[in-house]
This record gives sequence, C-alpha cells and structure tokens, in this order.
Amino acid sequence: MQPPAVPSHIQRLRPYVPGKPIEEVQREFGLTDVVKLASNENPLGPSPRAVEAIRQAIAGNLGLYPDGACFSLTRALAERWNVPQEQLVLGNGSDEIIASLGLVYLGPGSEVLSCHPTFVQYEAAARLNQAEYVTAPLRDHRYDLDALADLLAPQTRLVFIANPNNPTGSIVRRAELERFLNRCPETALVVLDEAYFEYADDPEYPDGLDYVREGRNVIVLRTFSKIYALAALRVGYGISRPEIIRALHQVRQPFNVNTLAQVAALASLDDPEQVTRSRRANAAGAHTLYQAFERLGLPYVETHANFVLFDLRKTARPYFEALLRRGVIVRCGDALGLPTCLRVTIGRPEDNARFLAALEELLAGPLDQADVRAA
Ligand SMILES: Cc1ncc(COP(=O)(O)O)c(C=O)c1O
Repeated sequence: MQPPAVPSHIQRLRPYVPGKPIEEVQREFGLTDVVKLASNENPLGPSPRAVEAIRQAIAGNLGLYPDGACFSLTRALAERWNVPQEQLVLGNGSDEIIASLGLVYLGPGSEVLSCHPTFVQYEAAARLNQAEYVTAPLRDHRYDLDALADLLAPQTRLVFIANPNNPTGSIVRRAELERFLNRCPETALVVLDEAYFEYADDPEYPDGLDYVREGRNVIVLRTFSKIYALAALRVGYGISRPEIIRALHQVRQPFNVNTLAQVAALASLDDPEQVTRSRRANAAGAHTLYQAFERLGLPYVETHANFVLFDLRKTARPYFEALLRRGVIVRCGDALGLPTCLRVTIGRPEDNARFLAALEELLAGPLDQADVRAA
C-alpha cells in the first residue's frame, strides 16, 4: 500500500537545521565540557522569579490545559507596552507567529519580501504556503530598505524586517525605516521582528510599537527566548492592529502557549534587573570579542544583539568542525549564505575566553586533516 502523496511544495521544504545540542557534541566527540554559542541564547539564564514561578506551577495540576487566552500574560504585556489587549497575540515562540502570518496572508500568487541573509523562518513561511520569496541582498551586512522598497509589488503580502538582523546583528535606523514604511502599499503587512529588541541601544534604533500606535500596517514580534532566557519554554508575542491580531487568533492552536511558559514569562516581566544584568554582560562580552577579532585581523560586524558575525576570509566549515571537536559550538555561515563567516553568540566571560583560545590556536597553525575531512 502507498501512503498518500506529499505535495511537491512540501517535499521541497528543507527542515530547519538548529545549532547542535550540547549533548550531541558530547556524545559525538566524547567530550564532557561543551559550550554552546550557536543559538543566540542568553548564557546568564532566566530570572530566578521565573524559575520559582515554574516550580510553583509544577506543584500545581499539570493535568489541566493551559489558559488558551493567556489572560494574565496578555494583560501584563498590554500594560507594559501601553496597548489594548486586543492588539496582542501570544505564540509558541515568535516562530509560531511567523508561521501564522503565513497561514493568514499567503497563498499561490502572493509574495514575501525580505533581505538576504536573514532569519530563515521567513522563507519557510513563504514556501509552506506556496508564496514566492523575493529578497534584496544586504548592503554592508545591513538591510537595504531602499532596494527592498523597489521590490514592492501589488502581490506583496508580507515584508519581513529583522531588526536587529540575524545573522549579522545589524539594525535599520528610524529615518530609513520610516522612508520605507511611507513607500509601502496598504496591501502589504510589514513584520518588524524585534527578537533582540532588549539588546539594541542605538539612539536611532526604532521602537516598532511607535508605528503600530500610528495605525500603520505593521506587526511587531518580540520574544521571551532571548534576553529573558526562556527559549526552552517557547513564548513570543505579536502586537499589531486589532484586525490583524484577530486573524492570527483565528489560525492559532487553541492552547499554543503552555502553562509553564505563561507563568515564567509573566514573572520575568517583574524582574527588570535580569534584563539590565544581561544587557551589561552582553556589551562587555561584545567588547572582548571585538578586541580579539581586531588582534587577529578578522573583520566582524558590529552587533546590536547578542551575537557577532565575523569573517575568516577562507572557507569557514573546517574551522566550525575544529571548534566542535574542541567543545565549542558556534554557527557556520555556510548555512546562512556566508561561507567564510562564523556567527558566535556572546557567552559568559569564561565561554568567550574558551572560544577565543580555541580560535586563536586554530588560526596559529594548519588545521587537522580530520577537521578538513569532516567539513
Ligand atoms: C530574528 C529572529 N526572529 C525570531 C526568532 C525566533 O524566536 P522564538 O524563540 O521566539 O521563536 C529568532 C530566533 O533565533 C530570531 O533570531
């Protein structure tokens, strides 16, 4: 008996390749001490209040479904950002909201715009819904919003702008974003993906909510996965016009955000110290990495997030493999369309030191043949 045929647009989808889990690298290379600097997680971990809230929730009744409306968390976020609750939707990570936007707005004949390289889930949302994915190249590692505006067409439904961008850590500034928004037709929704919002401190960094409050066709996405360090629990949110939010509620799963995620996210909002601490440690870590890259003569992109993209100026894959064997997991640029680059998440001081020591050692001599073969 044959299983039903998988439609060709699904067959063509490439599964997301995440940063390697620590346990896998431990198993593969027989290592005990492995540091993961591959997925832009916050190495300081979540607020102790979040951990305590989870502990209490576990002691409660896990047999009950979560609150499908995320009542308390929605109310807290609405207060925090001073927007009506009907303008907020919670998701199983902001990934889910990206996918839901695809379900709501895309289909054959429609187009999604973004710059390349950027966060891969935008392309996935397009392909899953048989929409075209059209990109302009980054310029000097930054979104080129003028080039993106030239691509706007009557069939454009979604425009994804990661600000800061992943994998480069660069930002678009207020003036260029406003120029772009003014060129956008009503038929396109601009998705301002601000997953790293809390790390960005440039005075010209725009707060996407300003444009939502102006009533523009914009949705802002934020997450508890990054600075709040709750990536394991999967919770993110979107803020937009009520009509857009209503449509997202219509397509989402009824219990998309689990109970532990809801209580932890809520408790995190009460701990601004954890955010300040993380931001400060991140800035110091960026500084350490910049200094080392300069000493090593490696070009890098100045970051507004919690990771740094740097250029080895030769094929990066063998270096990625060699770092793995030394117990340091980073992200190889080839998967991101940047084959000579590596992206490293800013870790704790000891993680950064370990990464830099391994990198310096590798750059000082010829690579092991094993690393070259593995690449
Ligand atoms: C730009 C960007 N958007 C969204 C996400 C997804 O975040 P979440 O964990 O909320 O799904 C990431 C995660 O790496 C990201 O880099």
